[in-house]
Amino acid sequence: MSHAAIALRDISFTWPGQRTPTLALDRFEVQAQEQVFVSGPSGSGKSTLLALIGGINSAQSGTVTILEQSLASLAGARRDRFRVDHIGFIFQQFNLIPYLSILDNVMLPCRFSTYRRERALTQGSNVLNAAQSLLRSLDLAPTLWSRAVTQLSIGQQQRVAAARALIGRPEIVVADEPTSALDSDRQQGFLDLIQQECRQTGASLVFVSHDQRLAQRFDRRIALNDINRCAQLEESA
Ligand SMILES: Nc1ncnc2c1ncn2[C@@H]1O[C@H](COP(=O)(O)OP(=O)(O)OP(=O)(O)O)[C@@H](O)[C@H]1O
Ligand SMILES: [Mg+2]
Repeated sequence: MSHAAIALRDISFTWPGQRTPTLALDRFEVQAQEQVFVSGPSGSGKSTLLALIGGINSAQSGTVTILEQSLASLAGARRDRFRVDHIGFIFQQFNLIPYLSILDNVMLPCRFSTYRRERALTQGSNVLNAAQSLLRSLDLAPTLWSRAVTQLSIGQQQRVAAARALIGRPEIVVADEPTSALDSDRQQGFLDLIQQECRQTGASLVFVSHDQRLAQRFDRRIALNDINRCAQLEESA
């Protein structure tokens, strides 16, 4: 029996309106507590892969199993619930909610998930406290907290998105190019915090980046084109 935190098998995924699959993977696994670096050129399917792991999109064939739960057996709302309970997502475009304050954005997963709310109480004396503590450790000063998210720089928004992914200690953290807008000092600090949080909580981390300088900090490195049969077909065509 495999106890991988993330297990994808025999996946084929084609975007609507396209004739050929974007992803064809025999096997993609991430173990509990493992920290994996996923790289690949633009358009190679990195964000698509993360969307399958999060159950945001479903593959036309194959299985996606997260924490031993098959995503296919969860219908829409239950799948969304499963994601917010167990996966902290840092999206490539952040997906922060513009009409919510910075703190409310960070606390959002705890509003939807009792599971995350309870686990956040190990990060602070209450959820607000946990959010503040994460923002501080990501070097976002309290003077910024009253701003609208639209008034933050991209690098600052990226760190708010990271705090939102980490609050409530999800078992899986998925990060889609989260350091692209950060200067190199902040990049190191940001990665230190994410990796340290994941180690402390035993979370698995899937980290997508173009930046090979970061790769050696991870337990394992995967070049998506090496495991995606579609990429090999395109290259040999
Ligand atoms: N919503 C969509 N509808 C149709 N095709 C899409 C959609 N999103 C992505 N694609 C296509 O799927 C392929 C993979 O895109 P994806 O966003 O996963 O790449 P990526 O590796 O994350 O690239 P980047 O490094 O630029 O973020 C591309 O050919 C893209 O055009
Ligand atoms: Mg992408």
